Amino acid sequence: MTENNKLQIWTEKYRPKTLEEVVDQKHVVDRLKAWAKEGSIPHLIFAGGAGVGKTTAAICLARELFGEHWRENFQETNASEARGIDVIRGRIKDFAMTKPISAEFKIIFLDESDSLTPEAQQALRRTMEKFSRVCRFILSCNYSSKLISPIQSRCSVFRFKNMNRENVEEYMSMIAKGEGLKISKDSIDAIYEISEGDLRKATNLLQAAAATGSVTKEGIYEVASQAKPEDVKDMINLALSGKFEDARKRLQDMLINQGLSGQDIVRNLHREIFNLGVPDQDKIKLITHLGETEFRLNSGGSDDVQIESFLAQVALAGKK
Ligand SMILES: Nc1ncnc2c1ncn2[C@@H]1O[C@H](COP(=O)(O)OP(=O)(O)OP(=O)(O)O)[C@@H](O)[C@H]1O
Ligand SMILES: [Mg+2]
Repeated sequence: MTENNKLQIWTEKYRPKTLEEVVDQKHVVDRLKAWAKEGSIPHLIFAGGAGVGKTTAAICLARELFGEHWRENFQETNASEARGIDVIRGRIKDFAMTKPISAEFKIIFLDESDSLTPEAQQALRRTMEKFSRVCRFILSCNYSSKLISPIQSRCSVFRFKNMNRENVEEYMSMIAKGEGLKISKDSIDAIYEISEGDLRKATNLLQAAAATGSVTKEGIYEVASQAKPEDVKDMINLALSGKFEDARKRLQDMLINQGLSGQDIVRNLHREIFNLGVPDQDKIKLITHLGETEFRLNSGGSDDVQIESFLAQVALAGKK
């Protein structure tokens, strides 16, 4: 591998170039492939969470429709960056006014389209109509329900599903192979847990961990600065069994030695409470206390005092 390659960002380096390479999203990919073959598409809405392949699928579609000219016929604009519909209209107009290159139409990909106000969406709708002969729109968003219905009814809506563990494993293994890296199963578990199925986040984590040498579970939690689930679980179990001082020591270790934030620990506590061996009644109480803890942390309360007070509640629940 050359030095140059090493500096490349993996989210770009390993972004699929064909629809075939897109991980999962089969319901979307199959339809897009068919349209690419026919050489025409309707306006589209791509709805789904972060890092699940919306932009990627749009670029792959453009590549398959336009071949080597895809860059000339594809424009990506971020609705939330573009500050107002006037900017969008201006850009769309400029782009639409030049003829498509060796194609019938161009594609305008509008990211975060659900961040537009309803008024801006009305203007967008008119712009879509005005240029529909020469442009197809792909509107990317988290929730299609945030788009006004006149826009929804003009588009085919595709929902991108969240990536599951197998999807993350498949993608991480592909990158690992490309980079000649070894990654263990528990590293992949950690990546999945932290990224919550966001492949951009997962890829960035893997690249950051790999930069420190070998990829280990610890390394991944370290670059993500996230509490390890087992540390949090230990801490809460110590408190439950009445070993309050030991639980406190664990907390100090996470806050001081591992440099984690209180919020970070609270997020993990939230996950662990549901796995505790205490009656549901107690879980409900603990969740309520945890909510208060989070609130106080956000209002400037100190990490150690607030979480210790929560651990005291856990210890009380364990006593009964
Ligand atoms: N289904 C997928 N198949 C292959 N790679 C994917 C998939 N989803 C995401 N990725 C990878 O994750 C990174 C981000 O993907 P992409 O830009 O498509 O996300 P997105 O859905 O548009 O997210 P956002 O809503 O944040 O813009 C890219 O490197 C891409 O290769
Ligand atoms: Mg995107």
